[in-house]
Amino acid sequence: MARTIITGAFPSTRPRRLRQADWVRRLVRETRPTPDDLVWGLIVHDGPEKRIPVRSMPGVDRLNIDEAARAAVRARELGIPALAIFPHIRADLKDEAGSEAANPDGLVPNVIRAMKAAAPEVGVACDVALDPFTSHGHDGRLDETGYVVNDETVAALMEQALIQARAGADIVAPSDMMDGRIGAIRDQLDEEGFDRVMILSYAAKYASAFYGPYRDAVGTASTLRGDKKTYQMDFGNTQEALRETAMDIEEGADLVMVKPGLPYLDIVRRVSEEFGAPTLVFQISGEYAQIKAAAAQGWLDEDRAIIETMSAFKRAGASGVITYFAERAAQLLG
Ligand code: PBG
Repeated sequence: MARTIITGAFPSTRPRRLRQADWVRRLVRETRPTPDDLVWGLIVHDGPEKRIPVRSMPGVDRLNIDEAARAAVRARELGIPALAIFPHIRADLKDEAGSEAANPDGLVPNVIRAMKAAAPEVGVACDVALDPFTSHGHDGRLDETGYVVNDETVAALMEQALIQARAGADIVAPSDMMDGRIGAIRDQLDEEGFDRVMILSYAAKYASAFYGPYRDAVGTASTLRGDKKTYQMDFGNTQEALRETAMDIEEGADLVMVKPGLPYLDIVRRVSEEFGAPTLVFQISGEYAQIKAAAAQGWLDEDRAIIETMSAFKRAGASGVITYFAERAAQLLG
């Protein structure tokens, strides 16, 4: 068997020479996340309490509208470009159809208005999906058998995106994985004169165990009937992620997203390389909780884990990261 013999490499070449001191490590570092890469994920609620801690996400609170506006100001101070809002809706406002999602005076539109009034220079992205609003916790409407119906759901999402745009959202971000929703939302926004509102498509979103803490945060953990496998992707698939992304870009997505983050870096790499579209990655609630829980035990250093994961996302080709760590990450990276 032929063997490749690399002659003359070692000892004349010693890769460790470039690692011997901080200054040279900094000099040769290839990837460097900055606050510009961050989108700050925020959970909001419509009660009077300023902050309600989320048990499964230590350090994350549900914010009321005033606190959310303050977070926007904080984002501006820290150089964080944008915020992504996720609502916790009161149980008495939820129904089978998720009708509260279309309320122009609901929590999300009010948060958008408060944020844009407080810090208009900070981008506001809104989740488009019905799960926080439905009594059953699914992202769409159900038929008699409990199946999430596609086209009727898309019609509801168009309404939801429109009220977000009217309230001043800069980005609408469908996270529901219905077929055809990007094109439908784009057409409707354009017809209504919102041609500058961007669409961030959750293009490759997998049915993941790592969403657990989020469902606790937005109050769908106890109500969710079944799982989301008939619309979110199977975690065994890569080609499907590429087809999904191609369709969403074709339908008019301005930015695309891969979700979850760290366990799916291979997908981030493929999507960012094959399409060349701005590719965001979501460091989701379960990833956040893992780091927090281990750090609380003293099993790892939280700050170092934050920087390392941000670097990993960038190295894989992400243009930005949605993360609940954004405030701390911006302090560390700024
Ligand atoms: C659903 C939605 C989910 C997240 C944001 N919007 C996941 C889900 O329940 O399927 C997850 C965010 C996270 O885990 O941090 N529309």
